[in-house]
Amino acid sequence: MGEVDQAFIQSIEHRANLDTIEIEGIPLIDLSLSHTTDINLLVSEIGNACNNWGFFQVINHGVPLELLEKIKVAAKTFFDQPMEEKRKVKRDEVNPMGYYESEHTKNVRDWKEVFDFLIKDPTFLPASPELEDDEMRTLSNQWPENPPQFREVCQEYARELEKLGYKLLELIALSLGLPSNRFNGYFEDQLSRMRLNHYPPCPCPELALGVGRHKDAGALTIVTQDDVGGLQVKRKSDGVWVPVKPTSNALVINVGDIIQVWSNEAYESVEHRVVVNSERERFSIPIFFFPSHYVMVKPLEELVNEGNPPKYKPYNFGKFNAARYRSNFKKLEVQNIQISDFKII
Ligand code: OGA
Ligand code: NI
Repeated sequence: MGEVDQAFIQSIEHRANLDTIEIEGIPLIDLSLSHTTDINLLVSEIGNACNNWGFFQVINHGVPLELLEKIKVAAKTFFDQPMEEKRKVKRDEVNPMGYYESEHTKNVRDWKEVFDFLIKDPTFLPASPELEDDEMRTLSNQWPENPPQFREVCQEYARELEKLGYKLLELIALSLGLPSNRFNGYFEDQLSRMRLNHYPPCPCPELALGVGRHKDAGALTIVTQDDVGGLQVKRKSDGVWVPVKPTSNALVINVGDIIQVWSNEAYESVEHRVVVNSERERFSIPIFFFPSHYVMVKPLEELVNEGNPPKYKPYNFGKFNAARYRSNFKKLEVQNIQISDFKII
């Protein structure tokens, strides 16, 4: 074991089984709408994927393929730099955007390094999770000088992904029987962020994880991954960890906690994790769609009734986010704030 610090070691029940399993199932959906395809068909495919898996991949998503390539090259070039270069944009307690190499998920350290940036820069949000405290703070991005094109490529990618995010939110709204623009207003001052993930080869992939099991706290996540593989989804039917097969030109989509609440659990946010390996480094680039800080997240009125009463109390997304930040920076003894804290039992 020697080579891996204790902080990275997962408890036995959470370690990866490294036997490669091939399971088909996570849907691959073609987003192109030709004259022959019916939008209703697409909407029902999306609805089924959200319902059965909470995860799916999309092709013909409209994001230029050269841009997918460019952002991966930018990520690799950035992470390939010496630590002292990356540390120049290191995140700290004041600014949570930038480079970071010691993130913890559920109090176990992740085998990865990341670079985070906001889609809207600057972004304003509550300074503290306390409800009675209305102090706000400003978050802004830190951009490295090198590689030279880094900022431009990241921002161009973010703009394209934002468009795709709205398109998917519209399809998801339709699949729930809502008007297509039902969610759009929640994202006017969005707190969405993008993350470049680098998972270096790990000497003990059977003990550590790239990202420990978790659910995404936002509304929707869109991930670009390379061909290495490692992302696994906990299958709803039996809890088996199913790999998301790297598929060229495809993007991975998953439903986050907020859609679970908005839909009153018609769709669930599904647990996932990243397994590492001892040979190849891996890159992935998620964008997390977060609503505006003032949005009160709660089951949508159109989706609840006497027979299906709201399963969650409303919560303020900005305050929720502030509570998450506080705990994700440090290794805490207590559990992170969760949507289950607002569950009506
Ligand atoms: C995440 C995540 C998946 C991946 O960062 O929340 O789930 O493939 N990443 O890196
Ligand atoms: Ni995730």
